[in-house]
Amino acid sequence: MTQSEIETIIERYGNRESAILSILQDVQAKEKYLPREALEHLGNTLNIPINKIYRIATFYRAFSLTPRGKHEICVCMGTACHVRGAQRIVDQMKIELGIRPGETTKDQNFTLETVNCLGVCAAGPVVSIDGEYFGKMSSAKVEGTLKKFRPDKKKKEGAHGKA
Ligand code: FES
Repeated sequence: MTQSEIETIIERYGNRESAILSILQDVQAKEKYLPREALEHLGNTLNIPINKIYRIATFYRAFSLTPRGKHEICVCMGTACHVRGAQRIVDQMKIELGIRPGETTKDQNFTLETVNCLGVCAAGPVVSIDGEYFGKMSSAKVEGTLKKFRPDKKKKEGAHGKA
């Protein structure tokens, strides 16, 4: 994110310290995380101590201080999904992606998270990827579902075809 892009966001809110939350939300939306340089620039421009900005950034779960994956996976661990096998789905995701909840794959394609309820309990167990819901999930469906979001989907399919 360039400094002029940050300036544009700041100007949108009138260069006010009280707008810090909205500004951080816009930076998060654009970058999918809060880069350290952006936070330092905000602190200098709005005259807010950097540790105060970090306190805000770490308080809200919507903010991330580390880069997020291109695709955000949320496995619902709410009661309705949990009793229908949500843990097995998380376990399979961990195997497929090589990461744990809260982490991002090395190629930055996926971030894996768990949530308490996605609000569609009757369809449980439920996984959302980039806001798209996949209901009646099972560990057996994980690989096929992730495949749709893998960047080298076609290459992999070609390689499998030759083998
Ligand atoms: S408990 Fe999973 S959607 Fe509500």
